[in-house]
Amino acid sequence: MPPSFVTQNTKTTRIQSFTMLSTLFLLLYATRETVNAMTAEISPTVSYLLDRGCANDTEIIDHLLIDRALYYNKHKLPSPQVDVRIEMWVQEVTSVSELTQDFEIDLYMNEYWTDPGLAYDILNPCQGNLSFDWAVMQNIWTPNTCFINSKKAQLHSSPFTNVFLMVFPNGSVWSNWRIKSTGPCVMDLTKFPMDSIECTLTFESFNYNKDEVFMRWGDPPLTIFKPIELPDFTMTNFSTSNKFQLYAAGYWSELNVNFLFRRRSGWYLLQGYIPTYMTVFISWIPFYLGPKAIPARTMIGVNALLALTFQFGNIIRNLPRVSYIKAIDVWMLSGICFVFASLFELATIGFLMRNEGKPATKSSRSTKNSNRWQQPSVCREDTQRKSQNIVFCERLDNTSRLMFPVVFTFYNFIYWFVYMKQAWDQAP
Ligand SMILES: *[C@@H]1O[C@H](CO)[C@@H](O)[C@H](O)[C@H]1NC(C)=O
Ligand SMILES: *[C@@H]1O[C@H](CO)[C@@H](O)[C@H](O)[C@H]1NC(C)=O
Repeated sequence: MPPSFVTQNTKTTRIQSFTMLSTLFLLLYATRETVNAMTAEISPTVSYLLDRGCANDTEIIDHLLIDRALYYNKHKLPSPQVDVRIEMWVQEVTSVSELTQDFEIDLYMNEYWTDPGLAYDILNPCQGNLSFDWAVMQNIWTPNTCFINSKKAQLHSSPFTNVFLMVFPNGSVWSNWRIKSTGPCVMDLTKFPMDSIECTLTFESFNYNKDEVFMRWGDPPLTIFKPIELPDFTMTNFSTSNKFQLYAAGYWSELNVNFLFRRRSGWYLLQGYIPTYMTVFISWIPFYLGPKAIPARTMIGVNALLALTFQFGNIIRNLPRVSYIKAIDVWMLSGICFVFASLFELATIGFLMRNEGKPATKSSRSTKNSNRWQQPSVCREDTQRKSQNIVFCERLDNTSRLMFPVVFTFYNFIYWFVYMKQAWDQAP
């Protein structure tokens, strides 16, 4: 092997190793620069944090609210189509009113969406979430959802705005706000007081159409903290649905929730039905007083009619003036009819007996006298005093004593069967 060759060979090796080394240096340098550049691009805080273990809350908040705030645009959609998940927690229903046709509900609205602009997992957070309040909420993008059919809605704000915001490291956002809302109810009083009322709340994003913000119900969509029992209503059922609603500006993603309230008819039973029964029963007392007690019978009959009218007025005073007939109208009017029928019977008796109470006229006395001599009997005194009219009246009273309760019972069977069946069919 010639020496020249050896020297040349070692030279080549040296050059090669030098090139390799310098490449390595260059590579190392470049990597460092890239890392520096990357970290510098994020923020000085981040580059500092990357050297340390996990980032604590203060550091993340500084990063989100100060460093990020420079780049964050709250008017820009976080993604082309934001998927907003809604969950409703019902705290209380404070009133259902048939007069104003609405209901008042206290609820928590939960919204979940993802905003990559708020992600902080790069900081290696020590904690899995961060909570904020209303002030931060105003500085981030929100889907601007609202109840579009509420008559009134109010965010609870004592002692501070009741809004809760939680941001997860991957940019998931959970917002929760506590509101009181008044929504419309649809009611059909034909079965009143055995009826149900349906109330609806419609929730949608006010600003963004379905291609920008897509709303959907979470699972479960609705949570009710405790059984909803009002003095006159019980919530028996609820249902949720979603659809696209067409407006002039396009399709909007819409969420609906329906609440079904069953009326508790106890009050009406005590204040309406039972007194009506009493009054109708009282109107039958005259049948037992005999045909001669016309003043007493008139008093009872007329009082019964007045009492019913008064009860009726008392109940319908608190109801909307609907033009159709309600179950309670049917009841009250038929009660009045029964009392009226008993008054009619009284009128018939009064008419037939109009001369009986007076001293007998000469002609009648003469007939009685002649009778006396013609039919000698033990009870002739009675038979003589009783004219044909009195006999007829007593028979009428006897028949009424039987027929009124029978017809009333029969009517009751029909009435309760019809309305109870309807109420039963309607029940979920
Ligand atoms: C938020 O973080 C705390 C503390 O790490 C944890 O206990 C809690 O379960 C988290 N909440 C949620 C909703 O992930
Ligand atoms: C982000 O993290 C939260 C909490 O761990 C999780 O519930 C959610 O599904 C995550 N979101 C995405 C888009 O991965």
